[in-house]
Amino acid sequence: EKGGFPHYMLKEIYEQPWVLENTLGGRLQEEAGEVALGLALDPLAVERVHFLACGTAAYAGWYGKYLLEILARLPAEWEVASEYRYRDPVVDGKTLAVVISQSGETIDTLEALREAKRRGARSLGVINAKGSTLTREVEDVLYIHAGPEIGVASTKAYTAMLAAMALLALWFGRARGTLAKEEAQRLIREMRKLPRLVEETLERRPLVAHIAEKYHQARDFLFLGRHVQAPTAYEGALKLKEISYIHAEAYPAGEMKHGPIALIDEHLPVVVLATRGPLYEKTLSNIQEVRARGGKVIAIATEGDEEISKLAQDVIYVPEVHPLLAPIVSVVPLQLLAYEIAVLLGRDVDQPRNLAKSVTVE
Ligand code: M6R
Repeated sequence: EKGGFPHYMLKEIYEQPWVLENTLGGRLQEEAGEVALGLALDPLAVERVHFLACGTAAYAGWYGKYLLEILARLPAEWEVASEYRYRDPVVDGKTLAVVISQSGETIDTLEALREAKRRGARSLGVINAKGSTLTREVEDVLYIHAGPEIGVASTKAYTAMLAAMALLALWFGRARGTLAKEEAQRLIREMRKLPRLVEETLERRPLVAHIAEKYHQARDFLFLGRHVQAPTAYEGALKLKEISYIHAEAYPAGEMKHGPIALIDEHLPVVVLATRGPLYEKTLSNIQEVRARGGKVIAIATEGDEEISKLAQDVIYVPEVHPLLAPIVSVVPLQLLAYEIAVLLGRDVDQPRNLAKSVTVE
């Protein structure tokens, strides 16, 4: 049932091209510059969005926040559900609570949703598991159609959630008149390429395995990224922690000099999301700061970027795509890196210690 793969996680990583096809496929209307989501929700009745989720799904919400602000000029926040449910969030009838979940059974996410609804919020679920508890408690569902995910470390559900965030931001942007038709068409064309680009990225596996070989004995890892790639950095660190048990931290790269830079020495591998985009130059100077302190840089960079190979010890090139969509491609080598390191360390990749696939207890 692992389809010839040694682990479910690897199988699911390799399923991502068709998963993206499933998530996006029938929903993109290139000619009209629209997306068809089949939601009952009135996009003009929403004045703010709260993304509520846990773990990997919460990082998808972080990405969603950036996209909603940029494309739809909609105030959006993201928060881990276990915090949201116990504070005193400001919510009204124009607030949309968007819960994101692979299993649809995560208790903290469910309770955060209930809290938001008690306070009058409208609700939408971005969910994988059909008919799960969360789907029954939200007003509207946007299924991510990733198929069953067995590996405890979430991979294909994450890329599908990111794609769903892009769909949602496009939908709101068009409805609110903040996203021009031409720009929407351009984004849709780029979204159509995603399955192929992820397919190409999977071909980097031998290089990733080589890098894993070099660094699997490290005690700690640091992951850095900015803007939409900040959530990618956090997701990369979470994957590595979960399945290899190596301590990994993530920071928005600009925050490095406010503390974590003290950690850097010649023993610390630093994974930097350095794909082309508005903050590319800033990220390069972050890399220089790491190098100046002896840190080992593994850069995720855009194909054709020669400059970066002079700065980083290792570069994993990913195909070029619209900078707002880059996280969907860039996270793939980070999933592979965590996987290869965990295998080298002899870990139980699909069933890491202390973790369950869905967390239904508080
Ligand atoms: O099923 P959910 O998406 O609601 O699960 C949320 C988290 O428990 C989950 O993403 C967890 O962080 C994964 N083990 C990440 O790989």
